[in-house]
Amino acid sequence: MRDRLTIRRPDDWHVHLRDGAMLAAVAAPTARQFARAIVMPNLSPPVTDVAAAQSYRARILAALPEGHDFTPLMTCYLTDATDPAEVRRGFELGVFTACKLYPAHATTNSAHGVTSIAHIRPVLEVMQAIGMPLLVHGEVTDPAIDIFDREAVFIERVLVPLLADLPALKVVLEHITTAEAAAFVLAHPDRIGATVTPQHLIINRNAIFAGGLRPHAYCLPVAKRETHRVAVRKAVTGGAPNIFLGTDTAPHMVEAKISACGCAGIFSAPTALELYLEVFEEDDAIDRFEAFASENGARFYGLPLNDGTVTLERVAQEVPAVWDAGDSHVVPFRAGETLRWRMAA
Ligand code: DOR
Ligand code: ZN
Repeated sequence: MRDRLTIRRPDDWHVHLRDGAMLAAVAAPTARQFARAIVMPNLSPPVTDVAAAQSYRARILAALPEGHDFTPLMTCYLTDATDPAEVRRGFELGVFTACKLYPAHATTNSAHGVTSIAHIRPVLEVMQAIGMPLLVHGEVTDPAIDIFDREAVFIERVLVPLLADLPALKVVLEHITTAEAAAFVLAHPDRIGATVTPQHLIINRNAIFAGGLRPHAYCLPVAKRETHRVAVRKAVTGGAPNIFLGTDTAPHMVEAKISACGCAGIFSAPTALELYLEVFEEDDAIDRFEAFASENGARFYGLPLNDGTVTLERVAQEVPAVWDAGDSHVVPFRAGETLRWRMAA
């Protein structure tokens, strides 16, 4: 049995770092584990232009601990009114790494999102021309569609036509949760990337209702039934070259989670690598962990692999019960539970 694992420094291709007191509390754990992270733009107001991204990037850098070696990769929040020239300018300046498509009202702070792909077609054409990835929250918002089917229906109704219309556009299907998404991503290795969160590898939808309503197990896309978890997990630990680490760590203060209308989001940043490594170990795939964590994403984005390494050791650790933030706190994923691995200092 292996007791230590050293891998190339990894990246997190999907994080919510928030702003203000929350940013001050959650920037450090992501920067401790990862060399780079794709930072989601769903602030309030959202990050929709170059100036907003530059100033958000400066706030992130200011929130990092002394001596950090972490690069935030910024994204542009697409709206019906996004200017293609602004997207091009941001990408060419190296401010924007990608654009994020939130279907309007699909999730947290998505009210300004896109109401129809037709509205952003000129933006997508520019992105295709310059090789800029489109990051997709792949769920339809049609209230007639059952919440557990929204991802599969999005693939059929939105993604398939989009890929046919723009054959060279690079697309990342974020936080995949279904057998349909896994099969689709596996079938298009050259054009589609996908991220997978730790929670969607570890829990199924029963966790949301285990003995009562469990707000800390609620995120979007919502966890699906067990057959879907197994299919996604098989794609990930089976070593698909176009699937990569993206935690979707999405902290909300405890009052916003424990509420009559609780926010979607699971905070996994403090122990992200350890959570994923348990999954790879259980599937007898530790030798495939480095590609998922440190190689596949950079290759898909066309970015260099990181220098340096991180080491994980087989030392049990308890996930903190609470993570202090401002005047309140966030409850981490698997709070109070014991994990088998720990990142070495
Ligand atoms: O659970 C989620 N939380 N899913 C998302 O898509 C957004 C995120 C957030 O920003 O809280
Ligand atoms: Zn997200």
